[in-house]
Amino acid sequence: MITLGIESSCDETACALLKGDRKILSNIVASQIDIHNEFGGVVPELACRRHIDLILPVLDEALLQAKLNLNQIDLISVTYGPGLIGALLIGLNTAKAISMALKKPFIGVNHIEAHLYASLMSHEENVKFPCLGLVVSGGHTALVLIKAVGHYELIGQTVDDAVGEAFDKVAKLLSLRYPGGPEIEKLAKEGNPHRFPFKGGQVKGYPFHFSLSGIKTAVLYTLRDLTSKQPLSHQERCDLAASFQRAVCEDIVHKTLTYAHKHNISTIIFGGGVTNNRALRQFFVEKAQDSVKLLWPSADLSLDNAAMIAGLGSFLYSQRGYGDSIELEPLTRIPF
Ligand code: KG4
Ligand code: ZN
Repeated sequence: MITLGIESSCDETACALLKGDRKILSNIVASQIDIHNEFGGVVPELACRRHIDLILPVLDEALLQAKLNLNQIDLISVTYGPGLIGALLIGLNTAKAISMALKKPFIGVNHIEAHLYASLMSHEENVKFPCLGLVVSGGHTALVLIKAVGHYELIGQTVDDAVGEAFDKVAKLLSLRYPGGPEIEKLAKEGNPHRFPFKGGQVKGYPFHFSLSGIKTAVLYTLRDLTSKQPLSHQERCDLAASFQRAVCEDIVHKTLTYAHKHNISTIIFGGGVTNNRALRQFFVEKAQDSVKLLWPSADLSLDNAAMIAGLGSFLYSQRGYGDSIELEPLTRIPF
């Protein structure tokens, strides 16, 4: 079975072709970083317009690389949420149009769920359920108990900024480029992670929820103090980046492993762009020791991409046996 995956929920326009449930024939991602960099974050209106320009060229490139034509597609899998409404509409309407033209089914999938499925696609071994899933991306932070693919229980989520969003906002405070995560990670390598005592926030009554707006404000105030008399030095910038990164990693690792140990979880699967952060991975490895198996997504499946959308769609379709109705609407939020 050949599945076409389409992703357009934020600032990446992506198409992928998948054979079966994991053989990636092509995985094309057109990033819009150049447009949004100027504004230090994603500008929804600009993202939507760019998706319109890019979706068909990206589809053509995906078909070309896979050496396939449209008629060879058996299923179309597309992100229907969560994300920016205008951006989602471009991908979803493209999927519906192809589905109608080819008389082939299409299936709408949850972008956050697909980030977790990316980790399953990255490893040959079969994961034992229940396991724990952690999504840390630009738009989402979610800790979920995975009973099986498609069956989840939300354990924790952010009450303010997503992890990647916090990295991007702190990077902006430090006058770094967008996306800020990789820039912060680079500076942090030269910094002292214990110079500033930043700490992740606790949410009363919800021990596994995340709150990062407090750290962001602490960085802002520290920056103001440091720059009140003289410009920020390179070392101070590195120390701020390292202390922020340490605080965020400690918070995420502590909450995730506390839940895992308490509930005898043997495997954690990860998803989302922030999983590229080496310090986060190292923290997990150090703190987990051999108590839990840690499954990370491969580099080509960690950031937004359409191969994970095709993978999850193909799996769900094989279980369900039918596609979605043409009435399916995009959703900015989808509760777990
Ligand atoms: O998963 P993704 O492509 O987007 C969403 O679905 O939202 O992740 C993008 C996010 C950005 O916020 C970016 O700053 C962050 O992932 N990111 C990182 C790193 N690489 C990407 N954050 C920290 N360290 C990194 N190395
Ligand atoms: Zn994403």
